[in-house]
Amino acid sequence: MTRTTESITPQLQSYISDHSEPVDDVLADLAEETARLFPEYTGMQIGPEQGTLMTLLTRISGARDAVEIGTFTGYSSLCLARGLPEGGRLLALDISEEWTAVARRHWERAGVADRITLRLGPALESLRALAPEPQFDLAFVDADKEGYVGYWEELVPRLRPGGLVLADNTLSHGRVVDADNASPRVRGIREFNDRLVADDRVTQVLLPIGDGLTLARKH
Ligand SMILES: C[S@@+](CC[C@H](N)C(=O)[O-])C[C@H]1O[C@@H](n2cnc3c(N)ncnc32)[C@H](O)[C@@H]1O
Repeated sequence: MTRTTESITPQLQSYISDHSEPVDDVLADLAEETARLFPEYTGMQIGPEQGTLMTLLTRISGARDAVEIGTFTGYSSLCLARGLPEGGRLLALDISEEWTAVARRHWERAGVADRITLRLGPALESLRALAPEPQFDLAFVDADKEGYVGYWEELVPRLRPGGLVLADNTLSHGRVVDADNASPRVRGIREFNDRLVADDRVTQVLLPIGDGLTLARKH
């Protein structure tokens, strides 16, 4: 029995990949195209195991209405959309026409385009323009890290009871525990993590997958 998480060596990471669901051609091509077109931004995309976990969480939770903040070239939205049932909806929010054009093509190819609505513009404004009542079963937060707390405060009232928030990069590549790092991005993540722990509307856990994925369930 152990109470700590293993350190993930490259060898262990390979083993994890080899023993998780392999990605299909659409996701593999999307990852390859993103790396080719936008090599300096490839690190923004979630990894394959996280994608599979998000599909499973969406499916297990029975979510029908989902929202994503930070779409980029569409890998995470494709994983979320695949977990939705027939008639399910995903609202995808981003500011980049160029990056989300790649997303649209791959949503089409995967046969999920009809369940995704893309809204371009600052996500905080898009959220505030929505009715303030509960309407989502699941939210994925993966845009500007300085904005996480603001997104949280707009999302929680719009989540149905039992709804989930998944928030990416909550370890900030380990920088959350580097006292010398006071960059706005890292401060944004620390503030977000501290806010959740103090928020009695939710139960949350910070999972050490990828760069940290926080899972919070509204009571
Ligand atoms: C880390 S990437 C998202 C990666 C994506 N979830 C994936 O797995 O492929 C962050 C995205 O947030 C978007 N973004 C940054 N600031 C934003 C804002 N204020 N409103 C909406 N989107 C924003 C960027 O355009 C970028 O596509």
